Amino acid sequence: MITLLLIALIFVYYLYHLWTNREFYRTARKLPGPLAFPLIGSAYHFIGLSNEGILKVLDYLTTTFSTPLGYWLGTKFFVLLTKPEDCQVVLTSPHCLNRDDVYDFTRSYAGDGLIALKNPAWKEHRRFLNPCFSLKILQSFMPIFNKEVQTMVERLKLQADKGGTFDMYKYIDACTLDMVCQTTLGTEMNIQKNENEEFLYAGNKLLEIMTHRIFKPWYHLDWVFRLTRMYHEQKRCSNITYSFIGRILQNKKRDMLNMPKAERLAGEEDSKDGSFKSPQIFIDQLLKLEGSHFNDWDMLSEASTIVAAGYETSALMIAYAILMLAMFPEYQERVFEEVKSVFPKKKFDISYDDLNKLEFTERVIKETMRLFPAVPVMARNATQTFDLTNVPQIPGQKTLTA
Ligand code: HEM
Repeated sequence: MITLLLIALIFVYYLYHLWTNREFYRTARKLPGPLAFPLIGSAYHFIGLSNEGILKVLDYLTTTFSTPLGYWLGTKFFVLLTKPEDCQVVLTSPHCLNRDDVYDFTRSYAGDGLIALKNPAWKEHRRFLNPCFSLKILQSFMPIFNKEVQTMVERLKLQADKGGTFDMYKYIDACTLDMVCQTTLGTEMNIQKNENEEFLYAGNKLLEIMTHRIFKPWYHLDWVFRLTRMYHEQKRCSNITYSFIGRILQNKKRDMLNMPKAERLAGEEDSKDGSFKSPQIFIDQLLKLEGSHFNDWDMLSEASTIVAAGYETSALMIAYAILMLAMFPEYQERVFEEVKSVFPKKKFDISYDDLNKLEFTERVIKETMRLFPAVPVMARNATQTFDLTNVPQIPGQKTLTA
């Protein structure tokens, strides 16, 4: 009797839910999309897949169905967009500022930093952090980039001289992590010299687990995720990255407190003529913000966010650009000729001005980024109903993916 009553109650609740959300379901039904089942939606596509397999499913979806398409990831409904005009509407809309809740899974690496934060905290952090990403600051990192690239080229040369094939990606990955750690934390990790390799392993593992969790809705449930081996591995890897970055932050903080005022001001004088004589390390900028705006956790989160967001994306883009050059030898030749004309000597350092002379090379990189985006999917929440090209009105409170 009680069971019957319970089933009846659930059924009534379900009907009530359908009725109160009828607008949304009407719109959702109009969008093309794969077969969806209760609770799991269409996420059966992702069962047992690796990250590579997940990308293939996304490719299958966007080539099989016309977009915008509706996709039930478990009980969450996503509207998948691929048309640049639609993506532009979403990414520039004041009603789609918040990233979807699936970005919460980035917290295992990036804490409550820019990637996971929602408004109004995101806006506030962004306002304080914007000066840390200025062009002048980027230019101050050129000596670091030159040094690390030279190390990478030497390592690649050693492998190339041996002949045969090898995976370039792991050399590029180590190089970009060394760069990001120096520009963000002011610390030479020497991963390219085979030191601190557990930091690279931990970072890569965290990014891999994050992607699994995002696309497999059964892992969205904390209690299910906690039953998996991934959870324990994530915990171990988070400990490695957080304690590493946390230690560096605390040491820096102590050094800064002990630094004579004149020395601190000398650092700031560098910027009077607009350019910096020494690299403007991200956490040094953060420490200047401490107290009034950022507490210890904010600083750890933002520093971790930059490391997490910076190295794999850059490494992938470099690897894809090299792949493109290998696939199109005629363009490789043009890039080679351009590089030779800007840097006639065999050994050279690259300045920011030099980069602007590499016009054709830049076009190759931009085309590569268009064809192989390092971040192929972004998810935003719409806070109110709005229009897309040729699409019924998308109801607010539902998730959009661009
Ligand atoms: C070619 C390399 C890169 C690509 C393709 C790339 C791409 C992206 C994309 C698409 C987003 C938006 C993600 C989303 O909303 O889902 C993003 C955000 C972000 N990226 Fe990158 N990125 C690259 C390199 C970097 C580097 C080198 C850093 C830092 C050193 C960085 C730091 C960030 C941060 C902090 C955010 C969050 C910004 C915010 O919400 O205000 N990225 N990136």
